[in-house]
Amino acid sequence: MAAETVLQVTNLTKVYRSRRRGETVAVDNVSFSVRRNEVVGLLGPNGAGKTTTIKSICTILRPTSGKIWIDGADAIRNPRAALEKVTGVLEGNRNIYWRLNVRDNLEFFAGLQGQSLRSVRSYIDELIEMFNLQGKVKEQARTLSRGMQQKLAVACALVKRTPILLLDEPTLGLDVETSYELRWILKRMAQEGQRTILLSSHDMNVVQDICERVIIINHGKIVVDDKIENLKKLFTASAYRFEIEGHLSSHQERQLKERFDLLQISTNGNRTVIEAELLDSQRVYEIIDVLKGNGCQLESVGKQYPNLEEIFLKIVKGEKK
Ligand SMILES: Nc1ncnc2c1ncn2[C@@H]1O[C@H](COP(=O)(O)OP(=O)(O)OP(=O)(O)O)[C@@H](O)[C@H]1O
Ligand SMILES: [Mg+2]
Repeated sequence: MAAETVLQVTNLTKVYRSRRRGETVAVDNVSFSVRRNEVVGLLGPNGAGKTTTIKSICTILRPTSGKIWIDGADAIRNPRAALEKVTGVLEGNRNIYWRLNVRDNLEFFAGLQGQSLRSVRSYIDELIEMFNLQGKVKEQARTLSRGMQQKLAVACALVKRTPILLLDEPTLGLDVETSYELRWILKRMAQEGQRTILLSSHDMNVVQDICERVIIINHGKIVVDDKIENLKKLFTASAYRFEIEGHLSSHQERQLKERFDLLQISTNGNRTVIEAELLDSQRVYEIIDVLKGNGCQLESVGKQYPNLEEIFLKIVKGEKK
């Protein structure tokens, strides 16, 4: 049975108005839904509208139009009710108290949500361990490294135990090790399946590591909303790579370029590599015919396995929808 929808965004539009820049349509009629316990990545280049979308869902921003329902609460008409269901960790705003130590911060945020200390103490211990902050419990947040502060911010969001967690660029600016550590923690949480997470990133690797589904947004509009696996298959099916010994004759090169649209030719020492996107796999043989025409030695033919980054760039450049 399909899990229920816990977050429903319908026709969300946000227009910023400023004297200097006039109107900016940051989010343009965006609709999507997230099911309970799903982990969804919101991916897009700078200025795509990710933060605006997340801030609207956290009720920090009032959308120009559209509807947002969070676990039964209308986030626009009744933000207070919605805020009991959702916690946001925004990039840049590390939402922790600088002068409180690690444990006090966690206790403070648990208390905010009306949880008694007794009931939450063992969960706090668990979080401290999960985020590897054991040696730091008595240190003031302001004295922690940036990576630790960011981990603490996520832990403070978790301790509120809202069913939905929104993370805006959770790994931005982290060193490689902490970035992987945080990904691993989020992935583990996702696998344990107790939270619904929507996270934004412009780093496809982060999304690929943590999420099962990705929504790609560009210029304020959704261009893709699909499982990461499906997205990979879609592109994998059509990308081929041919390698030959030696070089192509100018006649061969012309033939290939005339007959195939998305084709790249490069040389690697004494080898030539031809990469092509072929929606019809029969066309592989056409290419082979052209290559063999001049008595070339075909070294290999294979499918390309692009990573999410390449897929993302292709989509954003509008090569494919
Ligand atoms: N307060 C604001 N006033 C005017 N325009 C804004 C404001 N905040 C964002 N914008 C514009 O709205 C668009 C979307 O911005 P947003 O911050 O949502 O993008 P983003 O996807 O989070 O980008 P990034 O990856 O850089 O964080 C951009 O064109 C941005 O310049
Ligand atoms: Mg942003």
